[in-house]
Amino acid sequence: MTDYAGLVSAAGAMQRRQMYADPAVYEQELERIFGRCWLFLVHESQIPQPGDFFRTFMGEDDVLVVRQKDRSIKAFLNTCTHRGNRLCRADRGNAKAFACNYHGWAFGTDGALVNVPLEKDAYFSEIDKSRFGLVEVDQVASYKGLVFGCFDRNAPSLADYLGDMKWYLDVWLDAQPGGSALIGETQKVELMTNWKLPVENVCGDGYHLGWAHAGAMKAVQSMDFSGFTVGNASVELEGGLSIAGLNGHSVLATVDGVSGYSFYPDNAGILRYLEQNRPTAIERLGRLRGEKLWGSQLNLTVFPNLQFLPGLNWLRVYHPKGPGRIEQWTWAMVENAMPADIKQRILDNQLLTFGPAGLFDNDDGDNLAACTEQSRGWRTRQLDVHTNMAQGRSGARPGLPGDIAVGVVSEHNQRYFYRRWQEHMAAADWRAVPQYNLNSLQDAKDLAHV
Ligand code: FES
Ligand code: FE
Repeated sequence: MTDYAGLVSAAGAMQRRQMYADPAVYEQELERIFGRCWLFLVHESQIPQPGDFFRTFMGEDDVLVVRQKDRSIKAFLNTCTHRGNRLCRADRGNAKAFACNYHGWAFGTDGALVNVPLEKDAYFSEIDKSRFGLVEVDQVASYKGLVFGCFDRNAPSLADYLGDMKWYLDVWLDAQPGGSALIGETQKVELMTNWKLPVENVCGDGYHLGWAHAGAMKAVQSMDFSGFTVGNASVELEGGLSIAGLNGHSVLATVDGVSGYSFYPDNAGILRYLEQNRPTAIERLGRLRGEKLWGSQLNLTVFPNLQFLPGLNWLRVYHPKGPGRIEQWTWAMVENAMPADIKQRILDNQLLTFGPAGLFDNDDGDNLAACTEQSRGWRTRQLDVHTNMAQGRSGARPGLPGDIAVGVVSEHNQRYFYRRWQEHMAAADWRAVPQYNLNSLQDAKDLAHV
């Protein structure tokens, strides 16, 4: 194992391009990032009933998430313990048991091996079925509807892993009674990109909006989105905040309380919903979050590969498939308190903007794939790329957790993302992974060089 210390500068402002293409780096990421961090599995709304199951991935591990008879949730490696065939082939559904296609071993929804064909005649009743149950994911936990799994028994609890980020996540997850849900089918897109590039793009790169998405923004913008000037990279600096220093998690936030719903052809109904329900949001979240953040466009990133964007109303997870390939899974997300017609509009708009053929996603895909492919060249991969915009211009803001830069065009969040990546890659286990709490002045001072 190597610490790959040279691949990211201390402040996170430089990345060696090797990190986007090197199979050895990728192998270590599977162990030290995807094998160690809490990873998003499913939303509870997607598996409401006992026997409901959902197939997903943790890194490259195929995982089956199953609602149990007692309504708890378990996750298993989706691999048969006999000869290793993929157990469940369906993406989602409801089952009483899972039978393997190869020789017919069958497992209960609790993972126990319940049936072995020819058990008496071929195994002479000598097989101890209790030894061959499905392998469980070491830790599974939920936070306000979001279900996560973790392969590391020594990881901090999910609540501690999310830390101060919970304060921001609640703007979406807890603003209204009834919480949130994911709706529609899973939108799967294969992209020839390294997984870190789309994550950093959404977590902090407000810079590309006015350029790469100029045409798309012009096409769909229905109201004055005060933070952005369409057609060039000029962005009003007070138009938002870049919030990081949250152990790899981050927030890109507008703070006007309505701009999240700017990209709708007709958003009058949604603005009415915000107005009617804002008192509830303020009551539940306090004035700062209820007034300024709920309804604003927010890019919420949970390290390493989960992002959800209140306003644009999608949630996305990036599954790595090798150093230069991902599967990107997206769903539309709604608050359960929303009327049915608004939920439908959100789904329609999400497909239009960030669906598989969405206006915005197509702008990004080509750029991310090209950045990845370029990094494979023998000479090119020895070069560095940079996230040094607005460096040293962040600090504490009263009442807001994290280290905060003014504006959504700053590359501040990307620096923290890469620092966290490096901290994990260098650490042999969780004991060596630093935990920051930037509410604490001491920690803020420690990170003054960022
Ligand atoms: Fe599954 Fe043999 S591999 S039953
Ligand atoms: Fe983009």
